[in-house]
Amino acid sequence: MKAGRNKTIDLSVEEGKSYLDRCISISKPTDLQSVINKTILGDTFSILPLLPTKFVDLLIADPPYNLDKNFNGKKFKKTSDEMYEEYTQSWIKSVLPLLKEDATIYVCCDWQSSPTIGKVLKKYFYIQNRITWQREKGRGALSNWKNGMEDIWFATVSKHYTFNVDKVKVRRKVIAPYKVDGKPKDWEETAEGNFRNTYPSNFWDDISIPYWSMPENTAHPTQKPEKLIAKLILASSNPGSIVLDPFLGSGTTSVTAKKLGRHYIGIEENEQYCVWAEKRLEMADNDASIQGYTDGVFWERNTTALQRKTQNSQLSMWGD
Ligand SMILES: C[S@@+](CC[C@H](N)C(=O)[O-])C[C@H]1O[C@@H](n2cnc3c(N)ncnc32)[C@H](O)[C@@H]1O
Repeated sequence: MKAGRNKTIDLSVEEGKSYLDRCISISKPTDLQSVINKTILGDTFSILPLLPTKFVDLLIADPPYNLDKNFNGKKFKKTSDEMYEEYTQSWIKSVLPLLKEDATIYVCCDWQSSPTIGKVLKKYFYIQNRITWQREKGRGALSNWKNGMEDIWFATVSKHYTFNVDKVKVRRKVIAPYKVDGKPKDWEETAEGNFRNTYPSNFWDDISIPYWSMPENTAHPTQKPEKLIAKLILASSNPGSIVLDPFLGSGTTSVTAKKLGRHYIGIEENEQYCVWAEKRLEMADNDASIQGYTDGVFWERNTTALQRKTQNSQLSMWGD
């Protein structure tokens, strides 16, 4: 029995049969119309070569990291850096023909996989940056530092790419308020404190991993937060753009793209995860909110709902 406030999506494949039926399988070259806004059930290495060319505006990839990990019965085994490089190169080569000339790609990784991912991306793309996400949780280790960060590489196909910096501002508390002629300089005075909308840096410390009381949470072992994916989508695509995720997992990229008015295509080989992805896509029809992103700005991690309400006269149901 789950506690009352536990919102984790964990319905089984049997319970979620109708969701699984919404996913598609493909076994021969296909056109865009057949795959747009769909979850494709299958092995990404077989599916990618069947997709049309030059249709992707934004690729978000969260592949298995070079770690031992059990994805619902299918185990990814830690391997040598050389083998992981070969693995990375193989899926990157498959996505290359799908990307538009001005496409952007983001690839998530941990500190161990990051040098390999960066090396491969450098071969094929213009590297623009490497974002570090400070996760507040990480497994404790008695003889090592706890793992509290992940990287997200930001690369582009050419020097021409979309970057909407005004869409990804972060609302921060002002520590030392500065006034000119008695008036706040670039910040706002409110009953709840002083705030400024700041330009985002490549160090992200405002995003929690999904947890049990959040409606977006599923039982997937490595689910990314919608708030994190929203930043990538808002900065690097426009409404109507097409976002592809070749390792969809619980559906975060597709769900966030849908909430933000983008088209999506996700590939996932595990039926269980496809069920959760489709369930979340259905939920997005009734609730397009993204926790931690309100009124066009990203709020700091521990901003309370009350603060957001006072600031925006808009009640957000949860803290983040
Ligand atoms: C790191 S997880 C992605 C998590 C996802 N970002 C989310 O928010 O839920 C990687 C996913 O890739 C899937 N996967 C691994 N190898 C695959 C393959 N060859 N084809 C399709 N999916 C694959 C795994 O089942 C797993 O769900």
